[in-house]
Amino acid sequence: MVEAFAVASGKGGTGKTTTTMALGMALAEEHDVTVIDADTGMANVLFHAGLADVETTLHEVLAGSASVEEAVYNRFGMQVVPCGTSLSGFREARPDRLRDVVATLAEGTDIILLDSPATLGSRSAVLPIILADRLIVVLQPTIPSLSDGIKVQEYATTYGTGVAGILFNRVTDDEAIEDIAPKAEQYFEGETLSTVSESDAVRGARRAGVPLLSYAPESSAAAAYRKAASALTVRSRDVDTVADRFSSAVIPDEI
Ligand SMILES: Nc1ncnc2c1ncn2[C@@H]1O[C@H](COP(=O)(O)OP(=O)(O)OP(=O)(O)O)[C@@H](O)[C@H]1O
Ligand SMILES: [Mg+2]
Repeated sequence: MVEAFAVASGKGGTGKTTTTMALGMALAEEHDVTVIDADTGMANVLFHAGLADVETTLHEVLAGSASVEEAVYNRFGMQVVPCGTSLSGFREARPDRLRDVVATLAEGTDIILLDSPATLGSRSAVLPIILADRLIVVLQPTIPSLSDGIKVQEYATTYGTGVAGILFNRVTDDEAIEDIAPKAEQYFEGETLSTVSESDAVRGARRAGVPLLSYAPESSAAAAYRKAASALTVRSRDVDTVADRFSSAVIPDEI
C-alpha cells in the first residue's frame, strides 16, 4: 500500500527540501517512508541527508547505468534516493525514466515523498507533480507565494493530482498567520497541515547536513513538522494500481 506525495511550490526556496526531509522523518515514526530527490536539475537532498559523498545517485539510474536499488540509502529511518549535482549527470539523465523508478520503489514502501523542483519551469520540472497522487504545497505567507501555489494546484489538478494539504514555512508573524491561513485554505483543496516558523534550528540543520528532526528534535520547528505528519491522512492504495499510474503517466509535450 503506497501513496506518493510531491512536495511542491511555485518559486524556489520556499523550503521544499527542508520539508521533505523533516516531514519524511516525522512520518517514518509510523510508516515506511521513501524520499526521492526528484529535483534532478538542482538536487539538494544529498546535502540535507549526509549523502554528499555517495557515488550512485538517481542521475545514474536515470542514465541507465545503475539499478534503482543501488541508489537507495537507509538514512534517518527512511529510504533516501539522492540525486547528483553535476551538470553532466543531469544531461545524461532521461527524466521520463523517473516513472519506472517511482513504480519500482512503490512496491516496497508506504509513502513516497518526491522533493520537487520549483514548478512549471520545464517539462522535467513538472514530472513529479504529474506522477504524484497528491501534492503537499509549501507556501510562504505572502501574496506572491500563495498565487504561485494556487497555480501549481491548478496545473496538478489537470493531471488528476490532488492536494493533500498546504504547509506554511518561514513564518515570522504568528498572529498574522492565524488570519492568513484560514483565508488561504479557501483556495486550496487541502487543509493547512502545519505552520513552521523562521527558525535557527532549520538553518543549523542545513549547515550540519542532517535533517531538522535529527539535528534539533526538540525544536518548535520539529514539533510543527510532527504536527504536519499527524494531520496528513495517508490513503492506502493498491500497489498494482499505483505502479500502473506511475508507469503510464504521460509527460506533456509542453507545459
Ligand atoms: N523555517 C525555516 N527557517 C529558517 N530557514 C529556513 C526555513 N526553511 C527553509 N530555510 C532555509 O531556506 C533555504 C531554502 O530551503 P530549501 O532548500 O528547503 O528550499 P527549497 O524550496 O527546496 O529550495 P529550491 O526551490 O531551491 O529547491 C535553506 O537554506 C534552508 O535552510
Ligand atoms: Mg529544494
